[in-house]
Amino acid sequence: MNIALYEGGKSSIAGHSDVLKLSSNENPLGPPPAAMTAIGRASGTVHRYPSTDHAELRAAIGQTYGLAAEQIICGVGSDEVLQFVCQAFAGEGDEIIYTEHGFSMYPILAHMAGATPVQVAESERVVSVDQILAAVSERTRIVMLANPANPTGTMLPDGELERLARGLPATVILVIDGAYAEYAEGYDGGASLVAELPNVLMTRTFSKVYGLGGLRIGWGYGAREVIEVLTRIRQPFNLSTVQLQAAQAAVEDRDWVPACTALNAEQRARLTAALRQLGAACDESHANFVLARFADEAEAGAVDLALQAEGILVRRVTGYGFPEGLRMTVGDAQQTGRLIAALTKWREGRA
Ligand SMILES: Cc1ncc(COP(=O)(O)O)c(C=O)c1O
Repeated sequence: MNIALYEGGKSSIAGHSDVLKLSSNENPLGPPPAAMTAIGRASGTVHRYPSTDHAELRAAIGQTYGLAAEQIICGVGSDEVLQFVCQAFAGEGDEIIYTEHGFSMYPILAHMAGATPVQVAESERVVSVDQILAAVSERTRIVMLANPANPTGTMLPDGELERLARGLPATVILVIDGAYAEYAEGYDGGASLVAELPNVLMTRTFSKVYGLGGLRIGWGYGAREVIEVLTRIRQPFNLSTVQLQAAQAAVEDRDWVPACTALNAEQRARLTAALRQLGAACDESHANFVLARFADEAEAGAVDLALQAEGILVRRVTGYGFPEGLRMTVGDAQQTGRLIAALTKWREGRA
């Protein structure tokens, strides 16, 4: 009962039928059409058990990302892969380090494994390698961080991820959560570090850029010996045929990620500029959302209400240490226009 309940983004507003949901970092374009076709095809075989080894999906991920298929594990969202890591490598008396504004599932997963979550400070909303290294004790088993991070959208500066990976004792697993990695131009999500260091594990998801959050598919990439441990605690049928085939079709569509990330980069720049012009502070985001910081909690609450009155849902992030913040998913051009118009209306109403 000490575990905080995870709070998802709201999806409805009483009295509004045309709700614009910008509260869960979903892809405004949805999934690639090939994934929808695969879902239809797979529905004809749902009386059969799915594959247990996920061989075809792992091969397809390996091909697209240039990774060894036998070092990939697939889960029910990347959340499940993160759960496997905690369950396999931490327990009573062990510590799992996460950072000040880190993803809210990390302490939940630590508690689920019976371990102690240890929160370390960030530096101006960016993960601090020095703070993490200083917090490592002989009880530390895992360090979890997202790069780009949620809800800040910030990334570790070049070279810092590697300094962290190389600075940790070999007995500590570094989990690099790459839920938003595709949105960060030129970034491999930590894959090259996994190739060199057996204690580094990268997680990725089909929920964001592939637009399949409702289907729940994610994956991890790590040293063979780590993946072999995780596979032993994975339920054999954790992913359905529908999930497997949709994900495979999505990852085989090589045009999808560049198209979606180009749209995102364009609209993210537009939203960031508009927010700054309206007086909200924003760090440069490397993901598909922007964290806007207003004067204080009261102002963030007022903006949230003003947006809801226009049928727009964004995310309050008080639980992440930002009572003054609102996290806004980047939509398509029309949606971003609607959001900026509503924000402008709020600002003018207040002026
Ligand atoms: C940083 C981060 N990691 C992991 C996840 C979990 O994603 P999923 O379980 O849908 O793959 C999310 C979802 O919002 C996230 O923001």
